[in-house]
Amino acid sequence: MEFENFPQTEPLRDGRSVIVREMTISDESRMVEFFQGLPLEDRLFLRNDVSQPEVVHHFVRDTEDQVLNLVAELDGKIVASATLERGLYGWTRHVGEVRLVVARPWQRCGLAKVLLRHLVRAAPTAGIEIIKGQVAGGKVGAQKALEAMGFRKEATLRRHVKDVAGRKRDLLILTNDVSHIWEKMEALNADFSPTQGE
Ligand SMILES: CC(C)(COP(=O)(O)OP(=O)(O)OC[C@H]1O[C@@H](n2cnc3c(N)ncnc32)[C@H](O)[C@@H]1OP(=O)(O)O)[C@@H](O)C(=O)NCCC(=O)NCCS
Repeated sequence: MEFENFPQTEPLRDGRSVIVREMTISDESRMVEFFQGLPLEDRLFLRNDVSQPEVVHHFVRDTEDQVLNLVAELDGKIVASATLERGLYGWTRHVGEVRLVVARPWQRCGLAKVLLRHLVRAAPTAGIEIIKGQVAGGKVGAQKALEAMGFRKEATLRRHVKDVAGRKRDLLILTNDVSHIWEKMEALNADFSPTQGE
C-alpha cells in the first residue's frame, strides 16, 4: 500500500522534535527498551505483554494485520509507538483499531495527536472507514486524549478490564468515523479516472 513518505521530522509544542517513521524488524531491541520503560498501567491496555522480549520479537515480525506501525524516536531511542491494525477478512474489515503509547516524559506535548494524524491519513488507502480505540474506565487522560482527537464513546463493556491491582473496570470503546475522508478519496479517484468521459 502507498502511504506518506517517512521518516518525517515533527516539531512538538515544547520545542523538542521527534522523527516519525515506520517500525522495522531492526527496531526489536529499541522496542523492548521502550516497552520495558513504560509504567505497567500504560502498557496493560495492549493486547500482549510487550515487556517480554519474545512478545516484541513477534510484534515486529507479525505484521499481517498491521496497516501502519509507526514509532517516534529521538537520538536512536523510541519514545512512542502508534499502530493501526485490522482484520483482513470478515464483516468488520472496514474497522481499524488504534493503539497509541507515548513515554511519560513525552506526554502532553501533542505527540499522540501527531501520530494519530498519520494513522488517520493512512486509513482510506487501506479501506478503513471507522477507527476504534480502547480505554480502561477511569483512565480519564487516555479517554480525553482520544476525544480530543475526534473519537466518541461508542460502547461500554462492563468489567472487561483487570487493572494493575487486579480490580475489574469497564472497557470503553471509542470510535472515529473517518469514512468522509475515504469518500473524498473515492471521489478524487473517480475524478481522475482515465476512463472517465469516454
Ligand atoms: C493516551 C496517550 C497516548 C496520549 O498521549 P499524549 O502524547 O500525551 O497526547 P497529546 O499530548 O497528543 O494530547 C492530545 C490531547 O489529549 C488530551 N489529553 C492528553 N492527555 C491528557 C490527560 N492526561 N488529561 C487530560 N487530557 C489529556 C488533551 O486535550 C490533549 O490536547 P491538549 O494538550 O492540546 O489540550 C498517553 O497518555 C498514553 O500513552 N497513555 C497510556 C496508553 C493508553 O492508555 N493508550 C490509550 C489510547 S489507544
